[in-house]
Amino acid sequence: MSVSNNRDSFGSKFGIIAAAAGSAVGLGNIWKFPYITGQNGGGAFLLIYLLFVFLLGIPVMISEFSIGRRGQRNVFGSFKAISPGTPWYFVGIMGVVAAFVILSFYSAVAGWTLEYIVKSVTIGFGNQSTQQLGDAFQNFLVHPIRPIIWQLVFMTITAYIVIGGIKNGIEKYSKFLMPLLVFFLLVLCVRSITLPNASKGLAFLFKPDFSKVTIKTVLFAMGQAFFSLSLGMGALITYASYFRKTDNLGRTALNVSLADTFIAVLAGVVIFPAVFAFNIEPTAGPSLVFITLPEIFSHIPMGNLFGLIFFILLAVAALTSTVSVLEVVVAYFSEELRINRLKATILASVSISVLGVLASLSFGPLSDIKLSGKTIFDMLDFLASNILLPLGGMLIVIFVGWYLNKSTLFDEVSNGGELKAGYFPIYRFIVRFIAPLAIAAIFIYSVFYGSL
Ligand code: PFF
Repeated sequence: MSVSNNRDSFGSKFGIIAAAAGSAVGLGNIWKFPYITGQNGGGAFLLIYLLFVFLLGIPVMISEFSIGRRGQRNVFGSFKAISPGTPWYFVGIMGVVAAFVILSFYSAVAGWTLEYIVKSVTIGFGNQSTQQLGDAFQNFLVHPIRPIIWQLVFMTITAYIVIGGIKNGIEKYSKFLMPLLVFFLLVLCVRSITLPNASKGLAFLFKPDFSKVTIKTVLFAMGQAFFSLSLGMGALITYASYFRKTDNLGRTALNVSLADTFIAVLAGVVIFPAVFAFNIEPTAGPSLVFITLPEIFSHIPMGNLFGLIFFILLAVAALTSTVSVLEVVVAYFSEELRINRLKATILASVSISVLGVLASLSFGPLSDIKLSGKTIFDMLDFLASNILLPLGGMLIVIFVGWYLNKSTLFDEVSNGGELKAGYFPIYRFIVRFIAPLAIAAIFIYSVFYGSL
């Protein structure tokens, strides 16, 4: 019997949006977006980022949806089903490799959020200096066991949801967790914009200062759009293989991208007013969330409660993303090795955790292992974000734009002619010409000029 006959599927439109937006909304929005925006000039970066989301992100997302729904298999199997006898399945293998790599370092950071949830309810952040908060973060990072335990706890929760399948696992939890995330984010927004000097932070985020824009800013914005929208490795190809034939791919891509962008901007609205209210540098970088924010929580009334809400929010955002990355590997193992979901999930999460532990340890005991100046963690991040995702994204648009014929592609995005899909000519022009060239530009840049 063919695997596609008895495949699980999503049960509702809201479930699809919640799961796909859950994949997109993650550490990339709440941890990475604010600090990259802070380091790249604020409003001007935001504007360029928005341009990439709409011009490139949405077309690439529609392409991934089309491949997955047409293929009705995991990322590797979908390419094989659509283009039998060609080597395009290689793009699927790259996707599975990228999933391994991303999950190994992403789960490390996701684990840190659990440490900080516990911290907010136990010792709290009250009256510690920046130095103390920084040292506490550093001591935790280099600890040989603590970060690993949290990482494994996070992987176990991820695996638990994935074992439940699509309708009774991923969809069920996304439908509950995503509204919770939006609610927490709104609570924090209100708290932040009512702080003194909040308007300075909002001006930093929304007033474009184009004197700060360089070619690097543009390329950073493009890389961030890919990572944030979960593009280039088949997470959305895999999810779309569980969509129904009546689901509107164009509209879903638009909604998911809008939700992802809205949440990234809201995260900026939470963070920048707070940063300016306490005269902290907005360019603090990756430590913005784990050192700077605790400093803010230590100063405001009910800071521990707001800290708790913030770190739960971060954990929830990370969880719906790790679930989507693990599903790429689980779908691949279960369909290609023909093993059941439980076995596939155990196999995938245990093997990813082995690599993940190495990523965690590279902050402490393994910090001396370096390749061209990068620790294991940095190497995995670099390999995924700067090589595998852009390359995967480029091959995906080339596949859809040049390999698939026009009528097949139209058939897929229009649900066999049921929908008008009036955007089709522009969409196809972008995936044939603009997207491959633009992505090739970041790819070449990141290979030659280092990390994005
Ligand atoms: N989009 C996620 C984030 O912004 O945190 C990260 C991610 C998830 C990247 C799934 C790639 C992926 F396939």
